[in-house]
Amino acid sequence: MKVILLFAVPLLLIGCNHKKEDYKTPEKEVVVNDHQEGKKLMETHCYVCHSPNAPEGEGRIAPPLVAIKARYIDNEGYNKEEFIVAVKSFVENPTEDKALMYGAVKRHGVMPKQVFPVGSIEKIADFMFDYQIEEPKWFKAHWEGHGNENWIQSGKKFAENSKPKTIDEIGLEYALSTKKVLGKNLMGAIQKKGTLAALEFCNIKAMPLTDSMATKHNAIIKRVSDKNRNPNNKANTEELKYIAQFKKELAAKKEIKPIILEKGNKIQFYYPIETNTMCLQCHGTQLKPDVQKQILKLYPKDLAVGYSENQVRGIWSVTFVKKKN
Ligand code: HEC
Ligand code: HEC
Repeated sequence: MKVILLFAVPLLLIGCNHKKEDYKTPEKEVVVNDHQEGKKLMETHCYVCHSPNAPEGEGRIAPPLVAIKARYIDNEGYNKEEFIVAVKSFVENPTEDKALMYGAVKRHGVMPKQVFPVGSIEKIADFMFDYQIEEPKWFKAHWEGHGNENWIQSGKKFAENSKPKTIDEIGLEYALSTKKVLGKNLMGAIQKKGTLAALEFCNIKAMPLTDSMATKHNAIIKRVSDKNRNPNNKANTEELKYIAQFKKELAAKKEIKPIILEKGNKIQFYYPIETNTMCLQCHGTQLKPDVQKQILKLYPKDLAVGYSENQVRGIWSVTFVKKKN
């Protein structure tokens, strides 16, 4: 059985409040402010699996988004409207029937069904169509090798935001990069050895991997929960308060923004970790007997079960020193 499993579901979008003057506009590059939101949404929700930086071959958990763009726009000939409809229809309910990337389905399994904020997929697809998105170095040669000679990605060039990162962007970057590392490693374990072995992997590796990212970013990065599995991941009073708040916002289908608290020269950052169908194998209501048995053996006081999809499983709690810009 091939399943895609991640430690944490894609994070929800963060606010986009940049003004046009924030961007430098080098010659020949076009910036349309409205599209910045689509880019941000794409990086927040899709890059966890569709990372443009993952190498070709082993270690990838999904094709880069540019491959989807090339397949849909260059091969299938979709215009913008058709492209947006196709991406939206697939993402809202991914099935093997709808999939055009047969090789990717065979290799990674069908994309797991996940819930994204209302309106976000259209914005992402709109951005993907209009602009050149980040493309892995190997992709051009790979795609040309599939009979697409002299291929150049369609779309306008996008001028990068040259403004220093905001505090919420920094916090989110720490959380997302940790999530990527955990997700990729968990995936690898599952694909090579199956769910039970992956469980062992989470048990031994989740903490050290999180800590190694914390060292890299010079921050304290924790995944904590009101219903924790590992006793070290128990939320404190302040964290519990924000878990409750995120639960309310998620239930109200609100756009969830990170919480930023300034404490002296430090920043405390909170952001929800949500469940999707994949997590339920280890955190749901009906675990397989062997999985359940193993969880209770490793965590006799486990509280982290009984979830359904699209719930707050816990939060990222990240502490870092405020940088002077
Ligand atoms: C949890 C991992 C994961 C996340 C997050 C994810 N995808 Fe995917 N996606 C996959 C995998 C794996 C495939 C390849 C298999 C397939 O085509 O179903 C895929 C394939 C696709 C395809 C091609 C479908 C086809 O075969 O024709 C589209 C379109 C797509 N993703 C869009 C998105 C968008 C947009 C986002 C962000 C909103 C996103 N995905 C987030 C895992 C993910
Ligand atoms: C293969 C089984 C497995 C899957 C699948 C899995 N988890 Fe976990 N999860 C664990 C284990 C084991 C731990 C305890 C890790 C540790 O000891 O540090 C854990 C811990 C966590 C924690 C830290 C808080 C706590 O309870 O200790 C969060 C948050 C979390 N998981 C979220 C998720 C989300 C979200 C998903 C789906 C995207 C997911 N997990 C999928 C097994 C799994």
